[in-house]
Amino acid sequence: MHPASYRDTWAEISLDAIEHNARTFKKNLQRGCKLMAVVKADGYGHGAYETARAALRAGAEYLAVALLDEALELRAAGITEPLLVLGYTPPRSVEKAVRAGVTLTVFTTDVLEAVEAAAAVSSRTPARIHLKVDTGMTRIGVRTAEEARSIARQAIQTPGVALEGIFTHFATADSADDTFTREQFRRFMNIVDHISDDGIDIPLRHCCNSAATMQYPDMHLDMVRVGISLYGLLPSVASERDTHPLKPAMQFKTRLVQVKDVEVGTPVSYGGTFIAERPTRIGTIPAGYADGLSRSLSNRGDMLLHGRRVRIAGRVCMDQTMLDITDVENTEEGDPVTIFGKSGDAFLHVDEIAELMDTINYEVVCLIGKRVPRVYLYKGKPAASVNHLIGEIPAQDSPS
Ligand SMILES: Cc1ncc(COP(=O)(O)O)c(C=O)c1O
Repeated sequence: MHPASYRDTWAEISLDAIEHNARTFKKNLQRGCKLMAVVKADGYGHGAYETARAALRAGAEYLAVALLDEALELRAAGITEPLLVLGYTPPRSVEKAVRAGVTLTVFTTDVLEAVEAAAAVSSRTPARIHLKVDTGMTRIGVRTAEEARSIARQAIQTPGVALEGIFTHFATADSADDTFTREQFRRFMNIVDHISDDGIDIPLRHCCNSAATMQYPDMHLDMVRVGISLYGLLPSVASERDTHPLKPAMQFKTRLVQVKDVEVGTPVSYGGTFIAERPTRIGTIPAGYADGLSRSLSNRGDMLLHGRRVRIAGRVCMDQTMLDITDVENTEEGDPVTIFGKSGDAFLHVDEIAELMDTINYEVVCLIGKRVPRVYLYKGKPAASVNHLIGEIPAQDSPS
């Protein structure tokens, strides 16, 4: 049984938007290039399972997560498609991965040896691996052609192990300056060529994230790894491209649980950092920083109520936040509030919140807590979901 939610705060996720975004990427890929949908961190907060399903429906051929735990969760939920763990998997967990048919990223011999040992005892072979090359991110991966060749040679000599892929990750693909990305690509291709000189053919060479996929079609190679833009968000402050019209998939919603009129001089929330300078109407919403609504938005962030902007009044608390709703007419308890997303004709973009928080949109969506139920919409209607909200989604706020 999946847990139900009785609270008046939810994240509304359009699976239609995710399908649209995945299809948009598919349409723009170079011939023969596969789409890998990156659904790590619970699908960037959107729900890994539902996102994966939507991306697969739209034609994605491969999935990626950061950790083996995430991969096993997807397998347990019934996802049987190819699935790569992008991060490090400790040797002690490798057998579990191989038995689950999960593709592993390898860049050290101890992990490769664990894959070899697991392949020898598992019926789920070949054990698929992708070799990670560090071309400038300075995070994980082999750094030299010698290291890469040595791991590749060892891998192809082992029965039951398939060296299916080789990949690298760009550090500055979302920047307007292409110099470093081109240099990373050059380093990557140089290593790929060295391996191929040894007579080793690796079928899936991949390096592009969302930004690079949109910006550098010449680097698509055999597969691209699209994360943030699958969710309809742009990887940088760069403006949207005509070729990739994206639809943000998530809206974050709540409702007023109390409305009160306070007199001049009334302090609001912890520390009394907001003091009413006029007769003020305060609306309280049941969402706070434990839900991913950052405390740094205190007295600075806006939300939407009846299509109008309202400002956060005082400090964001752990579970509740107050809004100055004085300027919006006819407000009452139960009215829907949009933390980000659509309200009437108005739209508050997650990028605006990211900027106020001095961070990137990735972090804002990832921060939305586990206790916020995800409500899925498919073909414009509420869909079966892992969590579901008790009660109706306000009609006026349903995506069109
Ligand atoms: C190795 C790797 N590939 C692909 C991605 C997807 O990147 P993006 O979300 O910018 O598309 C990530 C995300 O951080 C990553 O770590």
